[in-house]
Parts: sequence; structure tokens; C-alpha cells
Amino acid sequence: MTSFQPAEPGTIDGARAPWWRSAVVYEVYLRSFADGDGDGVGDLAGLRSRLDHLADLGVDAVWITPWYPSPMADGGYDVSDYRDIDPRYGTLADADALLAAAHDRGLRVVVDLVANHTSVEHPWFRAALAAGPGSPERARYFFRDGRDGGESPPNDWISAFGGRAWTRVTEPDGRPGQWYLHLFAPQQPDLDWENPQVQADFDDILRFWFDRGVDGVRVDAAPAMAKEAGLPDAGHGPGAVFDSARWVGNPHWDVDGVHEVLRRWRRLADAHGDRLIVTESVVNGPERLARYVRPDEAHTTFNFDYLHAPWDGPTLRAVVDATLATLEPHGAPATWVFSSHDETRHVTRFGRAETGVALMGTGSTGEPTDLALGLRRARAAVLLTLALPGGVYLYQGEELGLPEVEDLPEEVLQDPTWERSGRTVRGRDGCRVPLPWSGTRPPFGFGPDGSVPWLPQPATWAALTAEAQRADPGSTLSLYRSALHLRRRRAELHEAPLTWVDDLAGRPGVLAFDRGPAFRCLVNLSAEPLPLAGHGRVLLASGPGDGALAPDTAVWLDRG
Ligand code: NOJ
Repeated sequence: MTSFQPAEPGTIDGARAPWWRSAVVYEVYLRSFADGDGDGVGDLAGLRSRLDHLADLGVDAVWITPWYPSPMADGGYDVSDYRDIDPRYGTLADADALLAAAHDRGLRVVVDLVANHTSVEHPWFRAALAAGPGSPERARYFFRDGRDGGESPPNDWISAFGGRAWTRVTEPDGRPGQWYLHLFAPQQPDLDWENPQVQADFDDILRFWFDRGVDGVRVDAAPAMAKEAGLPDAGHGPGAVFDSARWVGNPHWDVDGVHEVLRRWRRLADAHGDRLIVTESVVNGPERLARYVRPDEAHTTFNFDYLHAPWDGPTLRAVVDATLATLEPHGAPATWVFSSHDETRHVTRFGRAETGVALMGTGSTGEPTDLALGLRRARAAVLLTLALPGGVYLYQGEELGLPEVEDLPEEVLQDPTWERSGRTVRGRDGCRVPLPWSGTRPPFGFGPDGSVPWLPQPATWAALTAEAQRADPGSTLSLYRSALHLRRRRAELHEAPLTWVDDLAGRPGVLAFDRGPAFRCLVNLSAEPLPLAGHGRVLLASGPGDGALAPDTAVWLDRG
């Protein structure tokens, strides 16, 4: 275990607020971040070699997507051993070295906890298959007899990746047998969280990682971790699609039992000190979301309403207000996020006519995209996001202004959505293309020269490498870095409430708010320039302007 002495980014005027209340957490999608051994896949050695980039950028923590042994049916979200590191990524010793190196730089480390489902290759599932119906091994999962004499699935539940959520197994005697539940890919069987053995095993897994020094866990698919007793039909009609942000009273999503699991983990996290539990909970609106951060549950949760919002002033303002109003009674800070390894990169989204997003982005919509417009908006968006009260999640590569890669050849696509949708929905690979670090041609420093990244990088990324942007004060990387460093220094961005500036209320395309008496953020989402006179001294702007804030531009001002 490593001891942790960070620079205390969460310090507020000498008083210590828990670090996670206003932390900026940088998502590392491990297999696409940096490749240390040249096999084309990112790994822990690569990540370690690039920690200085993250420390210099000014983030407070990294969230690392699953690093466990996995057959990679879903990019590692199909875990076959929760207490080890996939050999493609390194070893447990590499994980320890990474934790120590991150902590040395004042960076905290959050790991992914994928507890709704395992891999089909996990020994628990193999044992369940071998043991047969009615066995305690099968009771860890949802094995059920089919309907219609076993021929049809036990109910109408559907998979997030398309198609039904049940797969029939062949029993040890060779006959077609029971069905098992998988709300994601068939290679990801759901665990039954009512099972005491499942609960006890995950207590040990959490302790294992907390004792090794991880600073928190990101709970994957939290609302899936309880199912309504009796597994009743959900009423999904033919061709129904997974749409958990709209579901109400669904028997396989956001069922009350998930909160018992979170309470159990919160007790365990508290017993280990200053550890974070953050949930991924795509549920129906802020009221349902707030239930995940009640005082004895998770500390924070991702804000999908913000992530999915279109680039539109009134909508964003309504999301900010609803988020703050519903979380505040629980004493939980908000989080703000615009991109992740599951969504179309927001530079691309914001350059389309339809700027909002549906979960698990389609990758390519064929819509015309104005990337210059998208980048301008994304640059404004980061000033908006970093000025809001609470924590922030940044997705690797957004600091470089990377767009979605929409033209990946079909033969390289790996997201299970592609096959599960009958090759109609390309899925999430376009936001997972390995990062460009340096140089003028692939692999752009992602791995050693001559190595071939697992997804091809566009040649145009030569202009977007971290190296190319570092020295350019006008680059997106420089903007992110300046904003993050300024945010760290301005105490009011960690403690002062948000107040909307009402004298701009007549401009619905403008978001204007103060954080305390001396800090103002203006974001111009309208088509007209906004005069800046009287607002204060410009600290940082997302684009050029001369006495006026251009459309799709944001600015931070000092009013002291
Ligand atoms: C959410 C993760 O972010 C996503 O990448 C994964 O496919 C699903 N959960 C299933 O684990």
C-alpha cells in the first residue's frame, strides 16, 4: 500500500473539504491512453510514463477503466478475476507502482468496479455452468428455466447492447437447458445481488483494492444491481430499445435493492478513510439520481442529464438548476461531464445540428458535422463546466480537442453493439481511438515507433498531438491547462454557491453566473456578440474577442 500526501487540491481557505467534493477527475480509458510495450494496446507502464502530462494539466485524480483480467468482450467490462491485472496491461506490481507514482504527483486513483456482471470466463460462472440447475453455484447468477417448455426466454427483458437479455445454456449432459440473464452482452452474466456469497465476495474485493491504496471506486451500471422479485416482464414490446433514462418502474433497472448494496459499500469505504464511491447511474431524472447520493450511499454520481443536454442555454441552465436543487438536500456535490468512453466525443456532437446525445452514442450518424464549430463550443463548454459548483469528469483526449473518429473501417470495430445490432449501430469505438501524443504519423507516440494501435488513428491527428499543442498558447491543451490551474487557485470555485446574473435574463442564449463576489462566468450560446463592458477583468477566454464575447465563446472574469 502507498501512503498519500497530495497537494490538497480540495483545500478551501485553509479548511479541508473532502477531496472529492470539487475534484477534477480525468478518465483514463486504459487500452487507448498510452502503450508502454508496443503491442498496440494501452497499459499501466504507458499510463505511468504519461502521469506528468496529467499532473501538469492540473487534474486532481484519474479514473482508470477496468484493468482486471478479461476476455475483452466489452473492453474489460467483462471481468474474469477481480483481484488481478490483465497481462495486456501489466501486473499487480505495475498497479502498485502506478499508485505510488500517481500519489507522488498528488494524483488520486479511482478504479472501476464492475459488480453487476462478471465475464462468462470467471470461475464463478464456469462453476455455475458445470454444477447444473438448482445448485448454489448457479444461485450466484440468474439462471431460470425458459417459458414454452424451455424454448423461450424466462421474460421479456432486453440487453443494453441490443436484443434480448437471456441466453440459453447447454447443460453438462449435453441437452439445451436453462437460460441466464445478461443486461449487457451474453459474455457478461448478471450476478444476483440478493445472494449473500456475492455480497461477501465483493466486500473482500473492495478491501483488497482499498488496502492496496486506491482512492475510490467508480461503480459500473449501479442501477442494474437489483432486480424485482420474481423477475416479472417489463412490458418491452417487440423491437424495444434500452432507454433507462426514460424508464419508470422498470423491474430490471433502478430497483430499490441497489441502495442496499451502496450502503454496504459506503460503510466499507468509510472504514478505510477518505475513499470515494461514484456511481454510473443512468436513471429517469434528477430526483431518481439523487437517491444514489443519500448521505449513507455513494459520495457522488455522474450527471448524465448534463452530458446528454444539447448546446442550448435554457436547457443547460435548467439542468444545472435541477441538479443543484435535487442534490443539495442530501449534501452531495454535483458532478459535470461532457464526454466518456461511451459517448460520441462532444467536439463532434456540438458540431452537428442535433447537439444532444443518446446514451452509447451511435458513433456515426452520417449527419454533416462542422468540427470548427464543435471545437469552438467544446472550448466554451470546458469553461462552463469548470466554473460550476462540484466535481468534474474529463475524458482523455478532450484536452486535445479530439473529435469522434467516424470513419473507422468496419473490420476494426470491436464494440459489442456493432454485432448485437446486426451491424447497424457502429457503437463506441470512435471515441476510443488511441491518443496522439507526439510525432507526425501514427502511432503518434501512443506506442513505440512501428507499433500498430488497436484502432487506427487519423492522419489529421498530427496537428492535435499533445506535443504539438503544448507550446502553443492558443491550443485547446493550453486552454484546459490554464483553466484547471486557475480553478485550483480560485477558492470561490471550490466553495461559493452559484448565482445567476439576472440582468442578462433577457438573453436566453447567454449563461451568466457568479461564484462569490469576485468571479463571473459568461457563456454566449446565442448568435449575437455579447458586450463585455462592466463585467470585470478577463481572466481567461475560450476564443478571441475584442470587448465582446463572440457566439459560442465563454469567458471567466475577475470582479474584485
Ligand atoms: C458502463 C460502461 O461505461 C460501459 O462501457 C460498459 O459497456 C457497460 N457499463 C457494461 O459494463
